[in-house]
Amino acid sequence: MTGSIDDQLSSLSSSQQSVTWRSPSNIAIVKYWGKHGVQLPRNPSVSFTLDAAHTDTTVSFVEKVSKDDEISIDFYFEGAPNEAFANKIAKFLEGLHSEFSFLRDYEFKIESSNSFPHSSGIASSASAMSALALCLCSIEKILTGWPTDSTDFLNKASHIARLGSGSAARSVYPDVAIWGAHEAIDDSTDLQAIPFDNQLHEAFKGYHDDILIVSADEKSVSSRAGHALMEGNPYAPVRYEQANRNMIATLEALKTGDILKFGKILEEEAMTLHALMMCSDPSYILMKAGTLAVIEKVRAFREETYLPLYFTLDAGPNVHLLYPDEVADQIWPFIERELVPHCVGGKVIRDRIGAGPRLLD
Ligand code: PMV
Repeated sequence: MTGSIDDQLSSLSSSQQSVTWRSPSNIAIVKYWGKHGVQLPRNPSVSFTLDAAHTDTTVSFVEKVSKDDEISIDFYFEGAPNEAFANKIAKFLEGLHSEFSFLRDYEFKIESSNSFPHSSGIASSASAMSALALCLCSIEKILTGWPTDSTDFLNKASHIARLGSGSAARSVYPDVAIWGAHEAIDDSTDLQAIPFDNQLHEAFKGYHDDILIVSADEKSVSSRAGHALMEGNPYAPVRYEQANRNMIATLEALKTGDILKFGKILEEEAMTLHALMMCSDPSYILMKAGTLAVIEKVRAFREETYLPLYFTLDAGPNVHLLYPDEVADQIWPFIERELVPHCVGGKVIRDRIGAGPRLLD
């Protein structure tokens, strides 16, 4: 389905017994790092919604013959049953009973696949959890008629996605999403993300994010453990203040089209994230030699050419390279020649800022 979310939702019919959503990953500009309670962020964050890196999830549901108190799911990842994921999702759904009263009355078959290889080192939790949340909200709409409008629908989908994986809350909105309460940002809340709503300057339309797969190995420290280590990190309070300041400066840059200011904050946030890891107790490093080699080359390229190529990092070694579409012809040949050789098997995902999730026929 194409068209607005309202149009897409109006195509749902009360007789349907399965629903499929395609939901994208996102890349944080100001990073969420540190959480408390049930997936509540220690600081606000803002991200670009991506496009090429996405998850397709289908949830089929049939009414149980005899009612019991169990959550019943079959889970297939890339076409094959996957018990480890099934257990994780069953546990997640157990916690959602108060959100969706139908969960124990149906048998669910969940089929999920990613547009990028699972072993590519790209975190799939944001796209996977947002796709699942959108499916669950659609089933609620099919069974009960609620939510009637797209605002309520996306509010709930973002809230449910957050309970699965914090950063997933941001994936339900097009272009730019904000998650976490900030006193100067209207409607911002820790409970769900909100859209940036048509405030994005033209300069950022079609913005590129080439994701360099520097290592596809499993991370030595998970994001969950990384968030937890922030609780004892002596720099945490200063970091949370910095994130609050960077939110305002980033939103301003996104509105005014200040690509240089945007790039400066983008890199500061990436380096801060990894510095926080290095000064955690115990200390750990997720960057690899290839990550540093790419960073040095990007900075040297910028000094030489004055072209606005900037990098960011997630909680891992892979490098996201962000740049405007209008200079893509000048920047891509450099990436291909100088940086792609640092990738495992030459793997790079050429992504862009994206239009948000889509209901598939
Ligand atoms: O959503 P989680 O719990 O996987 O945490 C993601 C944290 C970062 O990707 C490092 C930053 C972010 O805001 O996406």
